[in-house]
Amino acid sequence: MACVIVVGTQWGDEGKGKIVDLLTERADAVVRYQGGNNAGHTVMFGDKTFILHLVPSGILRETTSILGNGVVVDLAELIKEIDELEQMAIAVESHLSISDRAQLVMPWHKTFDLMREERKGKKKIGTTGRGIGPAYEDKVGRSGIRIGDLLELEQFRTRLEEIVDEKNQLLEQCFGADVPAFSAEEIFKEFEVHLKKLKPYIRDTPLLVNQMIEEGKNILFEGAQGTFLDVDHGTYPFVTSSNTLAGGACAGVGIGPTRITDVLGIVKAYTTRVGSGPFPTELLDSYGELLQSEGHEFGATTGRPRRCGWFDALLVRQAVRLNGITSMAVMKLDVLDKFETLKIAVGYRSSNGEFRDNLPRSLENVTPVYEEMPGWQCSSEGITEYAQLPSEMLAYLERMSELVGAKVSIISTGPKREETIVLNPDQFWI
Ligand code: IMP
Repeated sequence: MACVIVVGTQWGDEGKGKIVDLLTERADAVVRYQGGNNAGHTVMFGDKTFILHLVPSGILRETTSILGNGVVVDLAELIKEIDELEQMAIAVESHLSISDRAQLVMPWHKTFDLMREERKGKKKIGTTGRGIGPAYEDKVGRSGIRIGDLLELEQFRTRLEEIVDEKNQLLEQCFGADVPAFSAEEIFKEFEVHLKKLKPYIRDTPLLVNQMIEEGKNILFEGAQGTFLDVDHGTYPFVTSSNTLAGGACAGVGIGPTRITDVLGIVKAYTTRVGSGPFPTELLDSYGELLQSEGHEFGATTGRPRRCGWFDALLVRQAVRLNGITSMAVMKLDVLDKFETLKIAVGYRSSNGEFRDNLPRSLENVTPVYEEMPGWQCSSEGITEYAQLPSEMLAYLERMSELVGAKVSIISTGPKREETIVLNPDQFWI
């Protein structure tokens, strides 16, 4: 039995989708524990590219795939994704389960998300506009709706009427006549249709996952976003609204911490970020442009260009601690092929000149202190043998590992499934 959490160590988009897909080969189930369709997991194999937003990447291998209670679900988007997967001849219905306790993203959540961002102007968070923050607010504020609530349609209708009434009042107070009022009747009809399609997928997933664990199955927990978008430990307020850390998996699925056997940290060989917020190693010059173009750094969900910068060892060392990372998968090393020298942030200098090698509460107003290393300046794309990796790359990996305090277990040299070196294939599965 193994329970492995796959978690992003930076600001998301590290390549979790590819690694989850790879490890799924030997997993009995893949479970998402937080976030919603703000995520975009890109998986490539053969000549096909898949971008999944809600359904766990495990579905591509027709493995049991579960949306845990910690996920917020936009039903219309989920149905769209299921339809697309079915059109690609993937057997979704027999493999996907959705927690009856997962919260719904309702139409007003998206409206509030978009309107608030618009009002904030330059101070906006740069959300994906998918209603994620407002949906989690309602969950914690005890005025959310869970998917399981739809199973009692008449009770759902009454609850919906009450909530819609309150949301319409709020919308009018906040945004005046700019936004048309919501109609409980129309939403009810829409959700009645959604329920018909999704009823077979709704299950008591905490029970399902715990039973699988008792049977000695191998389970993968697929994190979305990354450590520094975590609502408690990220660069607040420029974060998402869930606990993206490995610790979030227990509450977001309904399992105890004693069940977790491994935490695999996914690390991009440089750093990227989408949306606003501090980013000490950001490169606003031609190096940043090179990383963006070589790494195809455009958001999988919104298509926005990702901000790019050097590898920040302070961030990843903190991620190793916060998540209890047991080993790392280092991604996108081939993107660095053309660089003559590479920089790694090993410390920060604050505005008063003080040096520190651990992460401050705020990343505003710090200047990174870099260590330089020679680049390899040759193509590493698609190398699958460790012995064939350029010596400069091995030195870069060794230094990364030393600085962040975790060993490297997987090396990725390209976007495809095959373009990967797994150093000890048996390590995760017992
Ligand atoms: P929200 O999750 O849509 O509320 O957005 C909050 C912040 O998280 C914004 O900066 C988004 O760009 C960022 N974000 C949300 N999901 C992802 C993701 O999957 N990858 C990278 N950034 C994300």
